[in-house]
Amino acid sequence: MPYLQNHAGLLLLLAAAARAFTRPPALAARGQALQRVRMADAASAAAPGSTVPATITAARIEAAVRETRGRHTAESARQIYALFDPFTREQVPVKVALRGALPPDLPGGAYLRIGPNPRPGRKEPGFLDADGMLLSIVIRPPEERADHCLFSSAWVRTAGFQKEEAAGGDLFQGTLGAAPRGWPVLAAVINNFVRGKQAVKDTCNTAVSYHAGKILALMEQCRPSEVRVSKTGELRTIKALSDLNGSIPFDPLTGGALGAHSRVDPSTGEKIAVSYATGGPGQGPPTARHDVWNAKGKLTHSVTVPLPAPIMIHDLAITPSLSVIFDLPLTVRIEKAFLDRFLVEYEKDTPGRLGLLPRYASSSNQVQWFDVEAGVVLHACNAYHDAQGRVVVQAFRAVPADPTAYIAKFTPAFPYQWILDPATGRCVEERYLSDTPTEFPNMSPHMHGREASYCYALSLSSAGGVIDGQPVTPYRMPQESPRFDSLVKVDLKRGGIAQQFHLPRHSLFVSEPIFVHRSQGLFRVQGSVHPLCVRAYLAPQLPLL
Ligand SMILES: [Fe+2]
Repeated sequence: MPYLQNHAGLLLLLAAAARAFTRPPALAARGQALQRVRMADAASAAAPGSTVPATITAARIEAAVRETRGRHTAESARQIYALFDPFTREQVPVKVALRGALPPDLPGGAYLRIGPNPRPGRKEPGFLDADGMLLSIVIRPPEERADHCLFSSAWVRTAGFQKEEAAGGDLFQGTLGAAPRGWPVLAAVINNFVRGKQAVKDTCNTAVSYHAGKILALMEQCRPSEVRVSKTGELRTIKALSDLNGSIPFDPLTGGALGAHSRVDPSTGEKIAVSYATGGPGQGPPTARHDVWNAKGKLTHSVTVPLPAPIMIHDLAITPSLSVIFDLPLTVRIEKAFLDRFLVEYEKDTPGRLGLLPRYASSSNQVQWFDVEAGVVLHACNAYHDAQGRVVVQAFRAVPADPTAYIAKFTPAFPYQWILDPATGRCVEERYLSDTPTEFPNMSPHMHGREASYCYALSLSSAGGVIDGQPVTPYRMPQESPRFDSLVKVDLKRGGIAQQFHLPRHSLFVSEPIFVHRSQGLFRVQGSVHPLCVRAYLAPQLPLL
């Protein structure tokens, strides 16, 4: 999410994930440190034609938001923000002793995470303006499993990072940390043009992905950096400002952008992503660009869809033949900055739409739009075709209380489902699947686009940050944050939460759960889920696995 790192919407939600890289993490010993709790959370089926099921009304969701915010304490806020302390240096690969036992069928590989990590001495107004730091945990294959793994960390050598290294000091100013004001954003962009020769720094601090032999460090408003990790844990940036062999068109303001999230079709190995451009003077109308790469990493299809408003699109969902475009009214309007308002706001009166675009579309005219209730979707769970030929879309949806609430406050999201009928062009049902606040969904990659029973996600016991009128944060933004301290298994078929795993006291999740397939086994959909957990107030020491 540069100039405006439109990841502004993420700044609240990603804050916790980013904190993973502010201190050496400790992975919770699987099956031992986690306490397993069953939770009765049965959402009833929606009545025909209704948009909200009887048992989970909008009022119930609003109450759940109030309850979540009401549970936040000063101690919670301080504990969360203690995790913001950045690494002050990179870590060369070092052996880290294992505590407990890894699952015997957990395959070997590198567990890679990324997040903003301010460099020492930098005056970052916003945490998410910071340079991306990669964190790696290399685990040997089961047959070579040792009593240790290898931990390492390194900043991504982006173009902006390299320029500042060469200059011996700061060149760029962040823009996310300017929220909720707009003039500082304009000042930062001018400064960056003059001193850094690019309007926004390519921080590449949001997500890391792997496809067709390439590992990418991503941020949705800049071009990615290609990185590499060796079997011995060395981390290296091999290409900054990558356009993926001409896949990413140039943009005069950002240089080009690639969405932070993508989906890989489990049958074809194709990677599908939606990137967006907010438009503006010299840039034309706002658009969403839909790209398909084949299993070898070659761009095979690209369609640019014009949009009526400059919206943020952070994620997508796919079926075997379609992509779902989330056109929901979290907008990025540059002109607001001239009025000293932050550019990213929730426009609750702007209609929401979901678009179905054929994967191999040759024209933007082939997208079919469905009117839906407004809201904000940061992360999608899944989509699939049902027996009636309709398309079921599942995601985590939030409804900010006012235009600035999504940026200035934390707005929890909840599991939600839409059923789109291409035959009639109507959304025939939309409803909450649970009133448990959730974020960062993940599931078996083999089920993307197919009807899945479950997805996994983080849940928060509380959210906030402003205590007694004073923000408990070392950063101007984000001022609030969620306390992610349980892992939930969302029942996508029946609704509700099938299982909930609570972390021990003083431990927090800091990154989305990752589904890892078993190294052996007949059914490849079997696997295990691996979230990253940080023990709050962990004394500086090497991570324990
Ligand atoms: Fe994300």
